[in-house]
Amino acid sequence: MLEKTDTTKTQDPSAQGSRHQEGFDGQASGHPAGAGRSLASEGAADQRTVFDLELIQRYDQSGPRYTSYPTAVEFDPAFDETRYQQVCRETNASGRPLSLYFHIPFCDTVCFYCACNKVATKDRSLVQPYLHRVYKELEMQSALFDDDRLVEQLHWGGGTPTFMSAEQMRELMAETRKHFKLADDEVGEYSIEIDPREAKGDTIALLREIGFNRMSLGVQDFDPRVQKAVNRVQTEDETFAVLEAARREGFRSISIDLIYGLPHQTAESFMDTLDKIIAVGPERLSVFNYAHLPRRFMPQRRIDEDQLPPPQVKLEILQATTERLSEAGWLYIGMDHFARPDDELALAQRNGTLYRNFQGYSTHADCDLIGIGVTSIGKVGATYGQNRRELDEYYADIDAGRLPVFRGIELNRDDEIRRDVITRLICHFKLDFGEIERAWDLNFQNYFGRDLAKLEGMQADGLLEIDSSGIRVHPKGRMLIRNICMAFDAYMEAKQGQGGFSKVI
Ligand SMILES: C[S@@+](CC[C@H](N)C(=O)[O-])C[C@H]1O[C@@H](n2cnc3c(N)ncnc32)[C@H](O)[C@@H]1O
Ligand code: SF4
Repeated sequence: MLEKTDTTKTQDPSAQGSRHQEGFDGQASGHPAGAGRSLASEGAADQRTVFDLELIQRYDQSGPRYTSYPTAVEFDPAFDETRYQQVCRETNASGRPLSLYFHIPFCDTVCFYCACNKVATKDRSLVQPYLHRVYKELEMQSALFDDDRLVEQLHWGGGTPTFMSAEQMRELMAETRKHFKLADDEVGEYSIEIDPREAKGDTIALLREIGFNRMSLGVQDFDPRVQKAVNRVQTEDETFAVLEAARREGFRSISIDLIYGLPHQTAESFMDTLDKIIAVGPERLSVFNYAHLPRRFMPQRRIDEDQLPPPQVKLEILQATTERLSEAGWLYIGMDHFARPDDELALAQRNGTLYRNFQGYSTHADCDLIGIGVTSIGKVGATYGQNRRELDEYYADIDAGRLPVFRGIELNRDDEIRRDVITRLICHFKLDFGEIERAWDLNFQNYFGRDLAKLEGMQADGLLEIDSSGIRVHPKGRMLIRNICMAFDAYMEAKQGQGGFSKVI
């Protein structure tokens, strides 16, 4: 196996246009750092990624995935329903578009690896009482926001949203449209998480009819041995039938979820799965590192730890995956995500409009996000708020006419500045100090002197380059973007002792 691999792949030429194209690092472009160019003035992203095994091993440590900053660990009960309501009303002056997240927690069977918030049950009669509470919550939430605020993003996650019957799915979307104004199909990003085992026959046509235009499909691994060990037996035919139906019905972007680090996996076995996925060419792929935290997630205790691949094999899988996807034309967007060069995420990364939130990467930057359902997290104004995590508590609040927000955080100015820095780095692999200085009226070097010092070792190791105008992450720093962001995380020192985060790789 090669120690260092440049996973360069030429981008879709049609997407390059007149954009300033040059090598990603000083060497490749022929310009030593600082010789007549500044990092901040670099053109749009060259989207190469280099897998450097030695560096990845050296920097492997626990860290947040920054779907929020500050992370949920910092959420506090002091942020309650009353404060949430005030903040929502205050945001109406902005007229910002809205994003709606619905959590549907039910699953027919439990996958042993699963770290999502779910309720495993065969009892489908549990859905209707849940939806009744969701409708009440929709009504309470919508009362807080001006009627003319347009919903540009909507997501059903889980659990398994298609655990609902066709009628229930229709009804949930109809109730949503009763309370919120949804943008047209061309503008709106309407996505759903699909377990192919729970999407039969006409499910996909129904989902398109009620408004969905993007989906992610849970696959994880096609190897029958792996599937059996994690209690998720799902045939290739089931998966590809859903994918074909989605294409036929006009879904615009299809994403597939895989997990590496599951029992029995080897680089070779995982490449078999990956090749089958590549052959059907989804627009996006998420390749998650299995987060094994059996003390936190009960079903994971049913996984035999002796069958888990050792760290060295996990790295081999990751390296082989990165290379294979690059050869096949997918770009590494960051944080487990790959996309084809013509997919809107890859385009957004190139033109600087990519954004990251609880649903992962997105092209809709400035929405207020309303979380609906048990455990959902919202992001409204400069706050995060989370709904009750247990079904009975969620029901009790809603039945008493209360919004079920039980904890959250109000960002102070420093949090907002750091969130801006981390989001830009994670989405664009570069940071223009001048943009931060203008946005926040500060001197970057003075404000972040200590944080920049933490990056010196990474600069020496070639992960990134810093000059007076900005930071640029090099191709071999891309897979370690979390580590880079951690330097700007003011809560990091306290967090490091807590051990609740998964490994970076
Ligand atoms: C809510 S689940 C997907 C929806 C649907 N229930 C399904 O399984 O197809 C979202 C994704 O999270 C990933 N996931 C779940 N548990 C994980 C874990 N412990 N480590 C890494 N990824 C995990 C899986 O790839 C899964 O497809
Ligand atoms: S991976 Fe999906 S289907 Fe499996 S238990 Fe988790 S949420 Fe349910």
